[in-house]
Amino acid sequence: MSLDKDISAVAGIIHDSKKVTIISHIDADGITSEAIMRQAVARAGIEVRSVFVRQLEPITMKHVPDDDSLKLFIDLGAGQQNLLEERGLSDREVVIIDHHVTQDVDTQYIQANGLPYGHEKLSAAGVGYLVAREIDDVNIDLAKLAVIGNVGDMMARENCGLIGPARKIADDGAEFGNVEIVKDDLNCYGISTRPLHILLSFADDPHIPGISNRPGEAQNMLTYEAGIQLHKPNGKWKVWEDLDEDERKSIMGRLALKLHSAGEPLERLRGEHYIFPDERKYTPLRNASEYATMLNACGRWVKPYTGSAVCCGDRGEEYREAEHMLRHHRKIIREMMEYILDKGVTEYSNLQYIHVGSRFPDTIVGIGAGMALSKLNRRLPIMVLCYLSDDPELVKVSMRTNETMVQAGVDLQAALLEASEKLGGAGGGHKIAAGAYIPKESEEGFAESVNRILRQQLA
Ligand code: C5P
Ligand code: C5P
Repeated sequence: MSLDKDISAVAGIIHDSKKVTIISHIDADGITSEAIMRQAVARAGIEVRSVFVRQLEPITMKHVPDDDSLKLFIDLGAGQQNLLEERGLSDREVVIIDHHVTQDVDTQYIQANGLPYGHEKLSAAGVGYLVAREIDDVNIDLAKLAVIGNVGDMMARENCGLIGPARKIADDGAEFGNVEIVKDDLNCYGISTRPLHILLSFADDPHIPGISNRPGEAQNMLTYEAGIQLHKPNGKWKVWEDLDEDERKSIMGRLALKLHSAGEPLERLRGEHYIFPDERKYTPLRNASEYATMLNACGRWVKPYTGSAVCCGDRGEEYREAEHMLRHHRKIIREMMEYILDKGVTEYSNLQYIHVGSRFPDTIVGIGAGMALSKLNRRLPIMVLCYLSDDPELVKVSMRTNETMVQAGVDLQAALLEASEKLGGAGGGHKIAAGAYIPKESEEGFAESVNRILRQQLA
């Protein structure tokens, strides 16, 4: 078997169906996945509708309709095939497009997933795009959405950006003309919307001594050392995208010097950007990582259909709603970061954790965990626990770590699966990022149990 064969198998089944229900996940990868598949299926003249869920779990399975449509699970499903079986879904009623660790069950559900073939850096939207392209070459315009999904799920590496099949997808976008790949650029977030000194002062990965968290110093460096004009002729702030190559090089050289004199490694300074020339300048739609944040803001705050409408081209009412969601999302994430850093985490030998109770919703604690990690001890994976507003019996767990710890042997998916399964909960995800639900009565001692498993993984 090969990924190509699986992709053609899935494409063939979709193509031969009369009616499709897409069941997808509420994050940027899930929303772009849904938008790619919905457009590809509709373009093939097949009736299609979509359902978004925060995760496939017993309580959300009720949103999967009981009808004669083909159930297309995307960005979820691989790790929850037991639930499909329990529901009585046969292998002829289901296809799965995913990038999560797959579960072994008796039913041979047809699946396209890069992971078993070693493509760890290919998100569900990436596989979805390959399926869409297999259905019809006209779908090449959807490569842009796959780039957003890949970037949203952190598939781009520092220095080299997207790799393997995800790279070829970005190249498809460049060939079609709605993606521009900018290599060897500054690894930072907000190149299309943030004034330059704010952009640099927000940099925390890498943390730049004297610049990170210091907008005034950043402004001085830009103006007096690099000689950059911070405003455009119309008086508005320039953004990184406005700078020419020499200006960018001059700033990056100065930042490299600061890192070097502090004895910090330089490799995280460079990154790759994916610009969308068909989108309006100075909006979050102009580049893949800001676009992905906007979609996360919609989906994680229960407006996935708004994000999906934006992906499919809405620039009116839905887009204004998405802008509103983004402002709200940023505010709450900022509050959660402050809460975690103020309150402090509990450190064990191989884990740091915090319980945020009902202060923040289960759909965003994973994002908070990831962001907090860059400001905490990077050698300890972080775990955030919270309560669910719609299920008082359960606790949501989110974990994040980094590439270095994964290289050292940490596997969060395996750790959470093991720790939660024996409590009657369920977990899944990736080595670097995983989540779980556990019964509330078992929350005590859960952190110790995960810590023990992580210690064994590193032994
Ligand atoms: O794949 P899952 O949606 O469903 O991933 C959730 C989060 O996990 C992503 O938003 C990303 O932050 C993180 N992730 C990661 N590296 C991966 C996969 C996921 O950091 N390889
Ligand atoms: O929810 P969170 O962003 O922390 O999820 C991290 C990763 O774990 C995602 O890839 C998500 O799909 C996965 N996950 C899972 N099963 C759960 C919860 C999360 O597979 N019960």
